Amino acid sequence: MGSRALMCLISALAAILLPTSTNAYLPTTDGCYSEICPQATTIVKNMVNKIIKENRNMAGGLLRLHFHDCFVRGCDASVLLDSPSNEAEKDARPNANSLRGFKEIGEIKAAIEAECPGVVSCADILALAARDAVVEVGGNSWSVALGRKDGRVSLKSEADVKIPSPFDTFDQLVQNFAAVGLNQHEMVVLSGGHTIGRASCGAVQQRLYNFGGVEGATDPSIEPKFAKELKEKCPQNQQGSELSMDSSKNTFDNLYFKAVLAKKGLFESDANLLTSPVGLELVTRYSKPGSSFYSDFAAAMLKMSNIQWSTDGEIRRVCSAINA
Ligand code: HEM
Repeated sequence: MGSRALMCLISALAAILLPTSTNAYLPTTDGCYSEICPQATTIVKNMVNKIIKENRNMAGGLLRLHFHDCFVRGCDASVLLDSPSNEAEKDARPNANSLRGFKEIGEIKAAIEAECPGVVSCADILALAARDAVVEVGGNSWSVALGRKDGRVSLKSEADVKIPSPFDTFDQLVQNFAAVGLNQHEMVVLSGGHTIGRASCGAVQQRLYNFGGVEGATDPSIEPKFAKELKEKCPQNQQGSELSMDSSKNTFDNLYFKAVLAKKGLFESDANLLTSPVGLELVTRYSKPGSSFYSDFAAAMLKMSNIQWSTDGEIRRVCSAINA
């Protein structure tokens, strides 16, 4: 075994054996595939660059796909599996008609398979693509540890409870992230992922027209002009239509935190960051120029991408199906 391959194995084992809080600071190895598929990381990077050039907004899709993968059964590409009976993670409430990037990840996988079949996991591709997408639209980079295997199980019922809800309180968000080993500081900084991408009107209907279950009520914590703007974009009962995650939806910056502080966050979960002293302090800190948001986000992403991943699985041939 060459030294790179050994590094890869050590990194993979460390990711499993050590608590996640320690993992985040381990030396990691993008070069893990250097002996078996040296072009893997470059293929992902080039393809992500091309995807983002064609549609900058897709950076949000790729970032969110990795997040939703890691929160259910760890980062094992379970989110990519299809189910003939619509019972897979991708069919769950937070994911169906909302998650995107499946086609793009499939294309990246096909390009890698054409060069070196059967060695690069879909889970690693998701982790690399999220990182490369964030970097491409202005975020800091992080070293992605590689060597994940792809899982063979994907359950709608698990995603329904493990993915945080846009209606969650601060404490519920903290508990949800704690369940995968992420602390409240990491929860707040990772919410900064809402600096890129899009949302659908369906995600804000309740806040605008049925707050607290009261017909016609609007969440009073939304800045009134912003509430009016949102209602114009999202008339009652309209589900589709794309909303921008923040005013610079195609650029990774700190405007999300400025928006939340100004009571212009899209979701109740965004607004609820202000309901705790710790959340308020962090949102305020990250809303200022020159804060550590970029580096803190990268460090938290590294930790998130190390959630409970396994070297005990398979390398799928196609990302949407387990190997026969
Ligand atoms: C804190 C708990 C979170 C909640 C409740 C939440 C909820 C949501 C919701 C409801 C949407 C809109 C989906 C739609 O309407 O189609 C969304 C979009 C998004 N979320 Fe989150 N999210 C959370 C945390 C995160 C984290 C940790 C990240 C990444 C690190 C992230 C990244 C994104 C991105 C990039 C989008 C835009 C997706 C796209 O452009 O397709 N979110 N989120």
